Amino acid sequence: SAQNGVNTPLPAFIGCMRDVFVDRQLIVPEEWLRDSAVNVSPGCSHRDRCLDMPCQNRGQCVNLWQSYQCWCPRPYEGQDCEEEHVTARFGNEDSQSYAAFTVTDDLGRNLSISLFLRTRRHNGLILALANNSSRYLHVWLEDGKVTVQLSNFDGLTAETAIDDGEVHFVSVEMAEDQMTLYVSGQKQVDVEISQVHVQAGDAVFVGGLMERSQSSVFGGYFKGCIQDLRINDNRLQFFGLDTSVRSYPVELMENVTAGCSGDDTCSRNPCLNGGMCYSMWDDFTCSCPPNTAGRHCEEVRWCELLPCPTDSECRMLNQGYECNTVLSYRGNGHITRNLTNLSLNLRTRKRNAAILHAQKGSAFFTLSVQDGFLFMELGRSTVSLSSQKSVSDGEWHSIHLFMATPWAQMSHWTLVLDEEIEDASTSRSQGGNLDFLRQGVDIFLGGLAPDASWALAGCLGTVELGGIALPYFSSSDVNLPRLQVEQFIQTSPHPPLISCFGEPVCEPNPCLNGGECQDLFNTYNCSCVEGWFGRRCDFSTNSCASNPCVHGNCSVSGLTYECTCEFGYTGVDCEEEVDVCENHLCAHGGTCLHGPDRYSCLCPENYTGPLCKMPKLPVSVCGDDTRNYTCFNGGNCTDRELSCDCPPGFTGHR
Ligand SMILES: *[C@@H]1O[C@H](CO)[C@@H](O)[C@H](O)[C@H]1NC(C)=O
Ligand SMILES: *[C@@H]1O[C@H](CO)[C@@H](O)[C@H](O)[C@H]1NC(C)=O
Ligand SMILES: *[C@@H]1O[C@H](CO)[C@@H](O)[C@H](O)[C@H]1NC(C)=O
Ligand SMILES: *[C@@H]1O[C@H](CO)[C@@H](O)[C@H](O)[C@H]1NC(C)=O
Ligand SMILES: *[C@@H]1O[C@H](CO)[C@@H](O)[C@H](O)[C@H]1NC(C)=O
Ligand SMILES: *[C@@H]1O[C@H](CO)[C@@H](O)[C@H](O)[C@H]1NC(C)=O
Ligand SMILES: *[C@@H]1O[C@H](CO)[C@@H](O)[C@H](O)[C@H]1NC(C)=O
Ligand SMILES: *[C@@H]1O[C@H](CO)[C@@H](O)[C@H](O)[C@H]1NC(C)=O
Ligand SMILES: *[C@@H]1O[C@H](CO)[C@@H](O)[C@H](O)[C@H]1NC(C)=O
Ligand SMILES: *[C@@H]1O[C@H](CO)[C@@H](O)[C@H](O)[C@H]1NC(C)=O
Ligand SMILES: *[C@@H]1O[C@H](CO)[C@@H](O)[C@H](O)[C@H]1NC(C)=O
Repeated sequence: SAQNGVNTPLPAFIGCMRDVFVDRQLIVPEEWLRDSAVNVSPGCSHRDRCLDMPCQNRGQCVNLWQSYQCWCPRPYEGQDCEEEHVTARFGNEDSQSYAAFTVTDDLGRNLSISLFLRTRRHNGLILALANNSSRYLHVWLEDGKVTVQLSNFDGLTAETAIDDGEVHFVSVEMAEDQMTLYVSGQKQVDVEISQVHVQAGDAVFVGGLMERSQSSVFGGYFKGCIQDLRINDNRLQFFGLDTSVRSYPVELMENVTAGCSGDDTCSRNPCLNGGMCYSMWDDFTCSCPPNTAGRHCEEVRWCELLPCPTDSECRMLNQGYECNTVLSYRGNGHITRNLTNLSLNLRTRKRNAAILHAQKGSAFFTLSVQDGFLFMELGRSTVSLSSQKSVSDGEWHSIHLFMATPWAQMSHWTLVLDEEIEDASTSRSQGGNLDFLRQGVDIFLGGLAPDASWALAGCLGTVELGGIALPYFSSSDVNLPRLQVEQFIQTSPHPPLISCFGEPVCEPNPCLNGGECQDLFNTYNCSCVEGWFGRRCDFSTNSCASNPCVHGNCSVSGLTYECTCEFGYTGVDCEEEVDVCENHLCAHGGTCLHGPDRYSCLCPENYTGPLCKMPKLPVSVCGDDTRNYTCFNGGNCTDRELSCDCPPGFTGHR
């Protein structure tokens, strides 16, 4: 063996030699070996140990002549890459979990943090580095993207999201005043940074901080799996693997488990309507039965199940369906009276729907709702008529339509809505009566025709044509024979729903913050608990609760608040200080002086008053009235101090 300059032995030669001459003498190995050779043997047999493919898990084998070395891909370690770092599971079944490690050596200027990550969460703290006085590095997930921040300044967010439930390799490299973020080996972004110093004794928090509130700043605790976490070459092992590798000791672990099994997501039966739940890692999928859709099979295409009778239209509602039945009637052949009027009660929120329609040849009669207003049309003679106000408000309305002169051949038609005679509308032209409806014609109620176009959604009370009801029950339904001679008979096969229900607008409860829902027939009203208002109780009356006015008093104003600022402050939240002297009113060149809650004026010589507006009255004892103050010996009186300017040689006040 030989020695180099710095006292470290050079590695011993490995290989074969032959024809070695010492002093021109060929050294014969057999002789030489007998004396003092260690680990030397004759021959030059060599077997590449890498041919045995000893490295597992895609490890790369390096031939070292008499031995081999495996370069292991992460997360594998060991002589033959046979050991895998144990994955640590965080947030199992939504528990709060974290781990903490201690750094045991001072790290140089270059810092590298790397790990395998698997999650479906969009947010959560992955890692934080802290020294005695502060946390100086955070790595967390924001909208599924890895974000790194150094001491509140230099931040980086990856371009690609990793919250897809797959395993991703993430690394943060800091070198040469540059911080770079990589995801799956792809460079994401870099930024210039100030130096970072990781010192022995610093702490590494993984998955969250001990304080829940401090973790929530970074989106809460991490949920998912972390494997093979390293800071530079130091392993941060959650579960022991191999003590021969450099690693930092784990100080504490809470709710961290070994392995990476997902939550039992199907145990909560997330699939509705008979959907089959399949568990995926931290997620589930529903195999939905036919005619249902949605992540939870919550959407049912009811109408594809053909629930409605053939002559009615199926309509999807918020949480179900509705069959729009159009009823049809015919006169019984014994109607002799003149049909000169129509009365009915109506409740709807539809703005366009047919109420009653019949047609015989070119004669027709239609009563409908158009753009919310009632509209009547009588064909052939083209009489038309509209209501003065809208009826599509979900309230009950009574409707009376009649010929102004019922005995006449032709007459104006009048419409009275809700018994308000003053607001009655009368047709401009004249038309005949409705006698063509007496027999041999279908009268449709609730739609234009059997195909349910222009279907009415809502409720109808008793409908009377010329005083004869269009009955909702057939004689067989009511068990009592109808004795009237003149009758309309229902010819549609399906009776309508009796009683008046709207859509289930209160299911689920649309009112927020504890508001109570009141079903107002296809619309709702929320009764909010105290402190909330708005259509859905979504606004707080107490917008002042957070004390938004910094230097002022708060008062609620509609959806928001108003601040009345103290003297000297301005801005929406009274947060800005105003220079009280900025628009001061000191007159005559007076100087503004800043006071604690107001300003004051320093007045020039000849002015006085709070704003220097009042002239200082000269207290003249000299002037015209100098006689009152006489100076002797040629002295001159001065107003200033009631004294005299004395000539040379004299002194004294006067
Ligand atoms: C572990 O998780 C549970 C469930 O979230 C939580 O109640 C408990 O406080 C956690 N333990 C610690 C030490 O945070
Ligand atoms: C903690 O880290 C910050 C940021 O790197 C540094 O400014 C501060 O001096 C460190 N404190 C101690 C006690 O090491
Ligand atoms: C940090 O705190 C630990 C334990 O309190 C102490 O041993 C160490 O000297 C402190 N380090 C610094 C730089 O103050
Ligand atoms: C730090 O990283 C840079 C760039 O990768 C490299 O050139 C330099 O040698 C590294 N310094 C140390 C002390 O490892
Ligand atoms: C019925 O109407 C006709 C005109 O269409 C009229 O001649 C007859 O007098 C009316 N009958 C009654 C009872 O009003
Ligand atoms: C409607 O017409 C019938 C028959 O013509 C009549 O008996 C009834 O009084 C009329 N009703 C109204 C409200 O005009
Ligand atoms: C809705 O509810 C509020 C609060 O209970 C009430 O003041 C209001 O009159 C209701 N509106 C209607 C149309 O019922
Ligand atoms: C704020 O309210 C207090 C107590 O009601 C009152 O004394 C004070 O004058 C008010 N301040 C302003 C700027 O309105
Ligand atoms: C004040 O008034 C006196 C007398 O009217 C005048 O002489 C003097 O100049 C005035 N001073 C100033 C500063 O205007
Ligand atoms: C000043 O003199 C005037 C006129 O001589 C006189 O009216 C007045 O009373 C005197 N004032 C005083 C304070 O003596
Ligand atoms: C008093 O005033 C007169 C006239 O203005 C002047 O001549 C005289 O010198 C003054 N006397 C003194 C002592 O200032």
